[in-house]
Amino acid sequence: MSTDWWRGAAIYQVYPRSFGDANGDGSGDLAGVRTRLAYLAGLGVDALWFTPWYPSPMADGGYDVADYRAIDPLFGDLAEAEALIRDAAAVGVRTIIDVVPNHVSDQHVWFGAALAAGRGAPERERFWFRDGRGTDGELPPNGWISEFGGSAWSRVTGPDGRPEQWYLHLFAPGQPDLNWGHPEVVAEHEEILRFWFDRGVAGIRIDSAALVAKDERLPDVPGTPHRGEHPYVDREDLQGIYRSWRRIAESYGPDRVLIGEIWLPDAERFARYLRPGVLHSAFNFDFMAAPWDGKALRVSIEQTLDVHDRVGAPATWVLSNHDVTRPVTRYGREDTAFAFDTKRFGTPTDLALGTRRARAAALLAMALPGAFYLFQGEELGLPEADIPIDRIEDPMHARSGGLDPGRDGCRVPFPWSGTEPPYGFSPRPVETWLPQPVDWGSRTAAAQAGDPGSMLSLYRTALRLRRDRPDLGAGDGAGRFAWLDLGPDVLAFARGDRFVSVTSFSGGPVDLPAHARVLLTSSPLEDGRLPSDATAWLDLG
Ligand code: GLC
Repeated sequence: MSTDWWRGAAIYQVYPRSFGDANGDGSGDLAGVRTRLAYLAGLGVDALWFTPWYPSPMADGGYDVADYRAIDPLFGDLAEAEALIRDAAAVGVRTIIDVVPNHVSDQHVWFGAALAAGRGAPERERFWFRDGRGTDGELPPNGWISEFGGSAWSRVTGPDGRPEQWYLHLFAPGQPDLNWGHPEVVAEHEEILRFWFDRGVAGIRIDSAALVAKDERLPDVPGTPHRGEHPYVDREDLQGIYRSWRRIAESYGPDRVLIGEIWLPDAERFARYLRPGVLHSAFNFDFMAAPWDGKALRVSIEQTLDVHDRVGAPATWVLSNHDVTRPVTRYGREDTAFAFDTKRFGTPTDLALGTRRARAAALLAMALPGAFYLFQGEELGLPEADIPIDRIEDPMHARSGGLDPGRDGCRVPFPWSGTEPPYGFSPRPVETWLPQPVDWGSRTAAAQAGDPGSMLSLYRTALRLRRDRPDLGAGDGAGRFAWLDLGPDVLAFARGDRFVSVTSFSGGPVDLPAHARVLLTSSPLEDGRLPSDATAWLDLG
């Protein structure tokens, strides 16, 4: 297989706790993924990305890692992970794992040692422990705000039972930030990469990759930080850290990849992480967060292609992941853009319209040059589920003062078959860790598999075409990208000489350009014309 497979790959994100439950405890596990590899291979994906599967108290859905060299007993054990990597490879599917360098769990041995060792001890230097401000140290050391809301500092209790120093956590209090100025922190992560590359993983998804390095003076965040001068976002030190990770990846071969989770509003800054010798690839959140609007999406696509071209990296196209509102829900709302701070309970949603647009968006994204990422359940068109307040697990909910429903609505256990919960997710009727909606019987994989009009059939057909046609995916020489002008509110482009994708937004139906064959449409054509909120793939013959 090609060593630069990742340039045009279709990569499927598995949320292990919600994919398949083999042991019947209501939570997914690795054995449950192994039994469903045929489904994934049949869908036509090239690789699986697993959100963290390590031992974790689950203060943040596993992104609070207690041990990077083991598997949470909820999911199985290391031998099971190794078997899963092998089984997946045997059906032509690679494995990508999630590494979380910014922080560890407060149950990690390093944090336990830091607490026990006390103020001023070297064990504390792997983290950011500081004395508080105020007469009695009762105020946090600075005004940094956690990504989940509230102060980014929590105060610990000393061995004498009295309030003592504070530690930094850019996320939940159960996720103390590491000090990347400390050589042991650097060395430990290099060993972790080797540990997993030795076990055959094809890639590493780097969590919160732009937040890892800190200004060690920990100054307050200025009103408008200059480019690259924020005290913890996008700091220059990161380039060196990831260059050394790149050398490790390359020592295993050119087919091992590093994929950054990089949320930066500035496309030029984003692209610096993708220069030769740094990361291979990064998630394109600009496109994902854009509203369902032809002009906005065109701007995003143009900018994406431009900055990636300049550094020789493949673009990535993402419509959803475990942190964001499901596309069929988001595109069915008045505000179709995604932003973390605008999520609210009870937002009116037209799911039929959202589904129509999500289908069109999927074909648009899969036709663009580069890699395509999909999040489990996206291929079923699952809507964001409403989780009863007393079952919400995501810390974003509580830390927003209860305003934000959090991210659990997209993390609900996968409906495989049957007409009622647990829809084949568990082998017996148990309560799943997050409740599944009672009206998902028509949305299961089994219900959709035989229906040519289903979201699952659309994804399968599109992924197969995308894989079979040399002008799709990375496309290289054969898939040269060129815009076509078909009027306002239409996004149309060619890939090479034979393939054209047309998406219409409002105001359809629109005439399609001359073609030999319609390959696939997200909604049926109307008298040969493309209705609004739809995409058509054409073969020009
Ligand atoms: C990333 C993950 C998210 C997690 C956060 C902290 O953004 O995708 O789920 O909460 O990092 O690790």
